Amino acid sequence: MNYNGTSLEQAKTYDNEDQLSTYREQFTFPQASGEFPLYFAGHSLGLMPKKTKQYIDQELEDWGKLGVEGHFRAKNPWLPYHEFITESFAKLVGAKPSEVVAMNTLTVNLHMMMVSFYRPTKNKFKILIENNTFPSDKYAVDSQARFHGFDPKDAVVELKPRDGEMTIREEDLQAQIDDLGDSLALIMLGNCNYLSGQYFDMEKVVKWGHTHNAFVGFNMAHGAGNLATKLHDWNVDFAIWCSYKYLNSGPGGIAGAFVHENHLGQKDIPRFEGWWGTNKDTRFKMGPDFDPINTVEAWQLSNPPIFQLAALRASMDIYDEAGIDNLRKRGDHLTGYLEYLLKEECTEKVRIVTPEKRGSMLCIKIQASDPKAMVDTFHNKGVFVDFREPDILRMTPIPLYNSYQDCYHLVQVIKECLS
Ligand SMILES: Cc1ncc(COP(=O)(O)O)c(C=O)c1O
Repeated sequence: MNYNGTSLEQAKTYDNEDQLSTYREQFTFPQASGEFPLYFAGHSLGLMPKKTKQYIDQELEDWGKLGVEGHFRAKNPWLPYHEFITESFAKLVGAKPSEVVAMNTLTVNLHMMMVSFYRPTKNKFKILIENNTFPSDKYAVDSQARFHGFDPKDAVVELKPRDGEMTIREEDLQAQIDDLGDSLALIMLGNCNYLSGQYFDMEKVVKWGHTHNAFVGFNMAHGAGNLATKLHDWNVDFAIWCSYKYLNSGPGGIAGAFVHENHLGQKDIPRFEGWWGTNKDTRFKMGPDFDPINTVEAWQLSNPPIFQLAALRASMDIYDEAGIDNLRKRGDHLTGYLEYLLKEECTEKVRIVTPEKRGSMLCIKIQASDPKAMVDTFHNKGVFVDFREPDILRMTPIPLYNSYQDCYHLVQVIKECLS
């Protein structure tokens, strides 16, 4: 992408020309102590849409007015409340409505999916993950391997970048999959790596995995609301995501899950079950036998937290209006602009880790004598980025609420701190 210089005037011009830039007004920016707020931490916790309060207030009001009757008579009845998210999730991740559901939290959903899609045998028991996977994901796959009687040291294989490199080459990923061959039971990758921001070509990974009859699932914690995906068309077996990052549903917000329709409606699939997964027509007859809903809703365990779903709805309404493809286009231009400014203004002391195949997050390695102290300076100035040991800064220009001028100011602060 070409950019026309590093001036503040140019950043203002980009903002004025961009039709999506008005969405910024729909979000609440934190009160910062310094000269800004400059919020670049949406990959960690997204900002609060202003209308979230109204959505939650509605449910509080109905609870107060109606008590238990709110399950049926609330303005938005609680009994089917999770279904209000379904169409939005389907559009967001490229799925059929029957394939997506809002439920639980991310790590819980990862376990739920592995119960169904990690079915190891004596000879087919390996799980392929990234070497720098988020710790919770590693704990989850290790514990699943142990649960099935395998030593994670044998069962869990970590994909490593080449020496001196920070991201994984596509050809190395393919070679690793082929190497593992028939021993491979499950591939479980982030579709956007949490530390490097690298995006894996999901469609190819699925094809390579399926060649060896392995299931292929993705943790889209950093992909949902960030990348435009086509989970159904790409034959992804399962995916899970949280909603408190790009999807702005608030701290600890409810998570999402996708199961491909190829695996729906199977009564004998291994699955942990609860009453919210059983046939809706007979659920309240309180019978002893589980009769799975023939959508991904069969994986639901409990009746869901309505206030969290309300917060998610507020955000998904904004996504529905803006559209993930438009946001991705803006995100590409905005992130490219941030990268351009960093290269122009801070070349010597900054190494960009994130490759071109990415979403909006940009991770940089900084050469500062005390990177942690630098981050403290950011915070004092009202700049929100995050730091991962030993020297990685992660920053995300979110296409829904960050501006070109934000990027300009951020790079000025980085430049100042590095000098
Ligand atoms: C890639 C990834 N996996 C797992 C988690 C854990 O999420 P949760 O606490 O919602 O289960 C996170 C949280 O940031 C994450 O980024």
